[in-house]
Amino acid sequence: MATILVTGGAGYIGSHTIVDLIDHGFEVISIDNFSNSNKQVFEGIKKITNQSVINYNIDLTNLDDTRKVFINHTKIDGIIHFAAFKAVGESVEKPLEYYHNNMNSLINILKCVDEFSVPHFVFSSSCTVYGNPDEACVTEQTPQQPAASPYGYTKQIGERIIEDFVHINPNKKAILLRYFNPVGAHPSALIGELPIGKPMNLVPAITQTAIGKLPKMLVYGNDYDTRDGSCVRDYIHVCDIARAHTLAIEYLIKEKNQSNIEVFNLGTGNGVTVLEAINSFEQVNDLKLNYEIGPRRAGDVVAIYANNNLAKEKLGWQTKYNINDMMQSAWKWELHLKESNH
Ligand code: WQD
Repeated sequence: MATILVTGGAGYIGSHTIVDLIDHGFEVISIDNFSNSNKQVFEGIKKITNQSVINYNIDLTNLDDTRKVFINHTKIDGIIHFAAFKAVGESVEKPLEYYHNNMNSLINILKCVDEFSVPHFVFSSSCTVYGNPDEACVTEQTPQQPAASPYGYTKQIGERIIEDFVHINPNKKAILLRYFNPVGAHPSALIGELPIGKPMNLVPAITQTAIGKLPKMLVYGNDYDTRDGSCVRDYIHVCDIARAHTLAIEYLIKEKNQSNIEVFNLGTGNGVTVLEAINSFEQVNDLKLNYEIGPRRAGDVVAIYANNNLAKEKLGWQTKYNINDMMQSAWKWELHLKESNH
């Protein structure tokens, strides 16, 4: 049975990916220092999978501590590297923390990939590498615009670091997965997104307003050149994102890759406006959301969604969930949080 190290395993996408890996027969270990996550996530994973996941609570910017994990676990067949700070707005306010954390964690993990001969590496990248694209529908070959935030730059630089690393280590194989907008929660509602503090992202803002944690939410602008004036995004269920990671690891282990670094967009291929997302939430959950139209948010991309043909064709990946499923699972998770007094 192959063993996969998931960094950021207590995180939103990391925890859902651990569940999918275990569901598909992998052994999993995790590294997470809970700087942006909660150790209770592992209780949720255990309830879903009946597996206890070993987690190393270490700071990946510390190379000696990171090396100890690989000394402890001599058999690591692959790594999925999620651990990073990921709030676009916060990265603008704290650029040095973002560059220090996101880049040094990646460099230390790659040093261990080299020293401990780990053959397969999957990197959590992002559609933010495209910046504000000229065409809303982007393929993996769409030229990258300057990133709109330090967070986006850490993903652009991260991809380049991995490209240069595998170039001098041809026996190492890497996949870069560019997520669009991950939303929703596991159908069990035992794991989901746990934003710390006031939510920056749309869907937690919707669900926290609907449950009464927030008095109202603002739609950041409805005067864009889109079908209803609000921004367009490719919202994708976090379980579809998780599934793609397991398929990516299997793709590498089965040596199906054509080169030792490949990139895949992870989106549904459907663009949805902010107002359409709110409408879906209201319809599928039979609720009325208290929102107002506010000013535009600096740095917002007007419209972006994925051409996801490459991931479908090469990884055999097929998204299962539509926007209504995403909004229903997000609301079910918010209700679970309320019942468990979060
Ligand atoms: C979506 C839309 C907002 C909150 C995210 C992640 C980023 C990357 C890409 C992974 C925008 C609008 C939001 C609110 C609103 N993912 N909005 N009111 O900016 O696309 O970036 O996906 O790497 O890490 O942050 O997502 O959810 O913040 O915004 O109107 O209260 O919702 O203006 O148009 P974004 P988001």
